[in-house]
Amino acid sequence: MGVLAIDAGTTGVTALVVTEDGRIEARGYAEFAQHFPEPGWVEHAPEDIWQATLAACQTALDQASTPPRCVGLTNQRETAVLWDRRSLAAPRRAVVWQDRRSSGVCARLREAGHEPRVTELTGLRLDPYFTGTKLTWLAENDPVPGNPAIGTVDSYLVARLTGGARHVTDPSNASRTLLYDIVAGTWSEELCDLFGVPMDALPELVPNWGEIGRTDPDAFLGLDLPISGLAGDQQAALFGQTCFSPGDVKCTYGTGSFILVNTGDQITRSDAGLLTTVAWQDPAGTRTYALEGAIFVTGAAVQWLRDGLGILDTAAESEAVARSVPDSGGVVFVPALTGLGAPHWDPEARGTILGLTRGTTRAHLVRATLEAIAFEVRDIVETMEVTVLKADGGGSANDLLMQLQADQLGIPVERPVIQETTALGAAFLAGLGTGVWSSVEELRKTWHLDRRFDPGQGDGAAYDRWQRAVERSRAWA
Ligand code: G3P
Repeated sequence: MGVLAIDAGTTGVTALVVTEDGRIEARGYAEFAQHFPEPGWVEHAPEDIWQATLAACQTALDQASTPPRCVGLTNQRETAVLWDRRSLAAPRRAVVWQDRRSSGVCARLREAGHEPRVTELTGLRLDPYFTGTKLTWLAENDPVPGNPAIGTVDSYLVARLTGGARHVTDPSNASRTLLYDIVAGTWSEELCDLFGVPMDALPELVPNWGEIGRTDPDAFLGLDLPISGLAGDQQAALFGQTCFSPGDVKCTYGTGSFILVNTGDQITRSDAGLLTTVAWQDPAGTRTYALEGAIFVTGAAVQWLRDGLGILDTAAESEAVARSVPDSGGVVFVPALTGLGAPHWDPEARGTILGLTRGTTRAHLVRATLEAIAFEVRDIVETMEVTVLKADGGGSANDLLMQLQADQLGIPVERPVIQETTALGAAFLAGLGTGVWSSVEELRKTWHLDRRFDPGQGDGAAYDRWQRAVERSRAWA
């Protein structure tokens, strides 16, 4: 019997049925609407996320040979969701991780001197990316009457899956909220006071695997199954890449790109702009930590070439178009379309294209975009000690990007056979939680190499141009 894994991502929900030998037996996907009510704002209707979850799961289950044994869930992190505990209806749309509306709240708290203490407790920074300041903004500008449940997308979906029986989250998601003390492993009263969040509205903390709740057949496709794995998507991808040992690193190339290095049971702090975060917590209460470099716009830059500029028909076409020229012809694109995340953390940076000449073609701009992704990842990886980078996510299918990445890093990039590592990680967690797999050693055996990209000649002058261009993109808005 397989494991049903749900990956509720930023633009859509993927459902996989994963077999005991780690293969994908069935797949479903459903997109949901993105709302941009004001410049810099991004919202999702929680009901849309739930309906997409139902649709994706139904599609996957229809193809599976047997009913699944358990459910694992992973999700876009940081997004703030409010809902009524009884009806489970959401009184307002969710404020998405990409939403920048709370940058004023962040500036105010920073000016009042709160950032060092917030960083000490959470491993994060005062940036609109994280849930806490979104909740402050909502309380101050658009309060919801009554006492709604507050959570991230994982909590909301568990509430829906269990018909309202469970209001829970896990440490990997909690550690992205600015409300969770990563040393104590609990919600922090001090932080809840600072951000004006009622503690009693927050979910109960549960480990990343073990029985977390059961699906309610009336709510969820007639199924009564244990929910036995739960994690934020980037931590789930770290797990799915079997990065179980300290020093193991992965990069997921999606809308943004997220590089996580396992640091074991040590809380490691970075002075290079990386976040300290919980990777996972086992049922015995032991936490594994990670350092994370979060880049907001990578694949989204290719989407912008397609949807904003209309110079590509599909994202996949970017590889062939970029290969039609030997280099970017001196063009540098800094895709700071929603500001810059790690390692620069500049919400006021904006997208910048430099080096245009009369000879510049769309191929140069497309190639500059793929190069930008490789440069952005290099900016992060150079601050870590990495000997090999495991790549996954949609962008890892682009061979040119993977080769540019290896060339820029000067280390090999390894791509596994299964690149949907986020959902795979959720399946692994759920399967560990119910005994489908008995240990992480068993999971390691399911990881198979698709292709290794060895570094060739990196273009040092191009990276130098990139760094100068990043400086020009900053403090623009
Ligand atoms: O921190 C944001 C991250 O969780 C979003 O991931 O894959 O849904 O874009 P994704």
